[in-house]
Amino acid sequence: MSSSMQSFPLQAEKQAETNPELYQYFASLVSSLPSSKGLSNNQLYRHDQGWHSSFMPMVGSMVADVCFTARPSDIVVATVPKSGTTWIKALLYATVHRSEHPADAADHPFNSFGPHECIKFFEYQLYAHNKIPDLNKLPDPRLFATHVPFVSLPRTVIATGCKIVYVCRDPKDHLISQWDFANKFRARDGLEPLSVETAAEIFCNGLSPFGPYWDHVLGYWRAHLARPKQVLFFRYEEMQRDPAAHVRRLAEFMGHPFGVGEEEDGAVEAIVKLCSFEHMNGLEATKGGKTELAVGMVANTAFFRRGVVGDWANHLSPETAARIDTITEAKFKDSGLSV
Ligand code: A3P
Repeated sequence: MSSSMQSFPLQAEKQAETNPELYQYFASLVSSLPSSKGLSNNQLYRHDQGWHSSFMPMVGSMVADVCFTARPSDIVVATVPKSGTTWIKALLYATVHRSEHPADAADHPFNSFGPHECIKFFEYQLYAHNKIPDLNKLPDPRLFATHVPFVSLPRTVIATGCKIVYVCRDPKDHLISQWDFANKFRARDGLEPLSVETAAEIFCNGLSPFGPYWDHVLGYWRAHLARPKQVLFFRYEEMQRDPAAHVRRLAEFMGHPFGVGEEEDGAVEAIVKLCSFEHMNGLEATKGGKTELAVGMVANTAFFRRGVVGDWANHLSPETAARIDTITEAKFKDSGLSV
């Protein structure tokens, strides 16, 4: 493993060239796709592979598809939004870089950079604002993230067989988290908040970012079944139950399991503590930091709400919860997947 940090994908962006014509080409293509109102103020466009996204990230995903060159050593975090992306990014970054940045070091990068700056999204960060970043100089293993469904991953990600870490979450908790997040954007845009029941209706119709949710999860689940050594599949609820076991699985998956000495020194527990909701939520990089995404600047505090399993019960009526459960059972039937 390289001893130099991936610190900084920032460098790659500074060196980025621009290609407005390519972005314009895909922008015209996306503009021609059917679109509907989503949860926030944004229109959601329907990709020809059947998923929905707001305009800029869909354009970015298309640019990434044709411009990104994967390496077998790359690791890509994949999630549907509001499923624990921030957490898995933190856990993966801290695990991969544990030699040069021990989790209990006072100067750990998380004190200055949020997880979304340490591991960047293809479609929201790297391939945005007309940029074509030069990612070739980044040391192995390069870490990236995406919300796009498996069918729309940059083609070289599949072809090279690089590693993918997927996290899924109970759709009801995902919905509540997404609803709260969308209402933050609506408030920014001077719009009334959406009621939870309206949000649930839109969600059940598949009109959520990178949704339908069920297709997203099933796409990565099937990929995991077909290629378990390439696609790791985690559940947010199981991560909450036993985060240390998941840190160990990440280390094994990347081919660098924790050694006896590291175990004795408490390296796993230190990563769990560093990346815990309570610790990350209290960091200056969270409280005062912002992340530049294709859709605008987002306060890092927006990525932390409660981090509680089953919080949906405080918001959804029993009828709506049952409706979502019924859809989930029908969609996941015979897949071997339950959430
Ligand atoms: P809630 O809205 O239910 O609190 P994403 O990172 O994909 O945007 O997901 C955000 C959800 O993950 C939010 O859930 C957020 O609170 C939770 N989250 C963020 N950081 C976390 C952490 N370190 N541990 C557990 N949950 C975390």
